[in-house]
Amino acid sequence: MIISFEGIDGCGKSTQTALLTDELKSHNKMAFVLREPGGNKISEKIRELLLDNKNSSMRSETELLLYIASRTQLVRDEIKKLLDDNFIVILDRFADSTTAYQGYGRGLNLEIIEQLNYFATDNGRYMPDITFLLDMPVETAFSRMMLRGEEINRMESSDKGFFERVRKGFITIAENEPGRVFSIDASLSKEKIFAQIKKILKSRNVI
Ligand code: TYD
Repeated sequence: MIISFEGIDGCGKSTQTALLTDELKSHNKMAFVLREPGGNKISEKIRELLLDNKNSSMRSETELLLYIASRTQLVRDEIKKLLDDNFIVILDRFADSTTAYQGYGRGLNLEIIEQLNYFATDNGRYMPDITFLLDMPVETAFSRMMLRGEEINRMESSDKGFFERVRKGFITIAENEPGRVFSIDASLSKEKIFAQIKKILKSRNVI
């Protein structure tokens, strides 16, 4: 089973990913977290290229293909093997991020992105079974990011309009695929968010 977490930067995905991993382990389930872009040697190298502030001249099209390249490697090198070994794979971002960021955010062709995601996920074989969209207003996410005090990377330095489009993209994806994507109000406390996640996983007999 593959479970992915999505949302704009600063939405609290990493906290929920960690909570879920602990919860699954407490149910004696084997769980493994991978982040995107990244998650293995080659994909982490691609991540460096993508997030480096020095690469401000990177074309949107190049950006798209690098995210897809990172995913292509991750699926074949890590996700396949983990699923074969009966792990629950938890993904901190996946294909929907490309649709939202490069499609809705950068305005690249959504049909091409769908095809590239299909290719990267081995003809759709490795798409998430369940996706949690942690949705929050861009303003809230921005102030959280500032509070983190970390250096802002190339993607995070995009303007507010970009993130508004990305958020709208995620909401559209959730509306289009209600059986897979569950939208959760990420401005709630981390405990309340996690309670909703658990409820959904219980209803799907995952825990
Ligand atoms: P990450 O550093 O994991 O940021 P966060 O912790 O805020 O989620 O994600 C890297 C950035 O890459 C993030 O700004 C979202 C962006 N991204 C895309 O634009 N397209 C993609 O397909 C993926 C996976 C991420």
